[in-house]
Amino acid sequence: MEFPVEKLIGAAAAAREKAYAPYSKFRVGAAILTKEGRYYTGCNIENASYGLTCCAERVALFKAVSNSERSFEAIAVTAGTKEFCPPCGACRQALAEFGANIKVYMANEAGEFQMQTVAELLPLSFTAEALAPGEDDGDDRKLP
Ligand code: THU
Repeated sequence: MEFPVEKLIGAAAAAREKAYAPYSKFRVGAAILTKEGRYYTGCNIENASYGLTCCAERVALFKAVSNSERSFEAIAVTAGTKEFCPPCGACRQALAEFGANIKVYMANEAGEFQMQTVAELLPLSFTAEALAPGEDDGDDRKLP
């Protein structure tokens, strides 16, 4: 699927403006693109109980899934830093639930990026196949 990578990264950068990161001051934005071409954005949301913090990537993913999306083409993430921002392990696992082939665009402050798939970022992810080898008919992952 052809899509404008700059637009996806731009959406992530705009979402970063909404970050709630009073503790780390590390502001992150993400934007996820569905196979049908819809965009959902997220920012990191911290909490005084630090462990409750949710990363930008999962906020974007969960917003999308809670809007009936199941199928994703790509996600972009930026922290507005010189370095490309890689998703944490928890976010890699959350993304893997919805597809090993999702492209992850890790961008820097200049909008440059490095792209790797979820499979490349998280080899041997834990999937439905591990819960019920050969028995998964995917029904529970379909929309009602
Ligand atoms: N964070 C993200 O939102 N995404 C990442 O890919 C890495 C980390 C957030 C969590 C926390 O609010 C802050 O960045 C510092 O870890």
